[in-house]
Amino acid sequence: MPLLPCAELHLHIEGTLEPDLVFALAARNGITLPYADTTDLAARYAFTDLQSFLDLYYATMDVLRTEADFADMTRAYLRRAAAAGVRHAEIMMDPQAHLARGISLETCVNGVASVLATSEADLGISSSLIAAFLRDRPAEDALGVLRDLLAMDAPIVGIGLDSAEVGFPPSLFSEVYDVARAAGLKCVAHAGEEGPPAYVWEALDVLRADRIDHGIRSLEDGTLVARLLAERVPLTVCPLSNVRLRAVGTIGDHPLPRMLALGLNVSINSNDPAYFGGYVEDNFAAVTKAFGLSPDELATLAANSFRSAFLDDERRAVLL
Ligand code: ADE
Repeated sequence: MPLLPCAELHLHIEGTLEPDLVFALAARNGITLPYADTTDLAARYAFTDLQSFLDLYYATMDVLRTEADFADMTRAYLRRAAAAGVRHAEIMMDPQAHLARGISLETCVNGVASVLATSEADLGISSSLIAAFLRDRPAEDALGVLRDLLAMDAPIVGIGLDSAEVGFPPSLFSEVYDVARAAGLKCVAHAGEEGPPAYVWEALDVLRADRIDHGIRSLEDGTLVARLLAERVPLTVCPLSNVRLRAVGTIGDHPLPRMLALGLNVSINSNDPAYFGGYVEDNFAAVTKAFGLSPDELATLAANSFRSAFLDDERRAVLL
């Protein structure tokens, strides 16, 4: 499939840690991993739901100890993304997952941000950083980390909400989002990946999210679909991830064609590509093969990604 220039808007940088890099960083940091080798690690990527993935995702990121580790991970992703046609990337990271391991905010933020700062000059990919908060931890923790990020003037464009969804509704984080918006940050939130349409409503009404990450379960609620259409709310969809985490049965069951036919503002993204069998181009290839998407539909998906990005008008005009 020819390269399709696009923006990647839903990407967890910790989810780009390929087995080779996990082992290389472990060796560099003197860590003994509980896996025999990269094949043994990759064999564990048979997930049954979101939580089964998150357990391994949080465990493997323990190899990230220094700024250089975070920088190497980020550089590896950007190189792959550039080769795949990504022209702009908005990258989420999970600061709380690193703080909990004794890694400072400066180490994780500066490691990633130092590479993003030169990504356009080095690779032709403009980029920005989104600090995502873990919804299965108390909102006060998230608020404290947000205040620390603001105090250190961290180079973030926005905040997000991720981790285990069901049982942790967006409304728990209303104060965090109010503080972020007052500080001029953009707001995104995972909703409707495993959680119900009610969580998408809350992300829109309570958090006033600019974008919804996933949102596939929105289709269960016709009134919500009408709202998403009326407001052109961006939905950052991750097809291979939805299959691997069993939100849908097979790629052929994915709601993407219905979302496109309805005219929803959907884009294609890779989420945690090291774990889910592919980067953004693999996601495009999988849905193109499964649904025979037309060149017009592919162009719409790419244009949606650029239009939904947190870009200045000048860069957007270059990319569109
Ligand atoms: N963190 C990393 N990947 C995630 C996903 N797919 N859903 C929620 N939180 C995540």
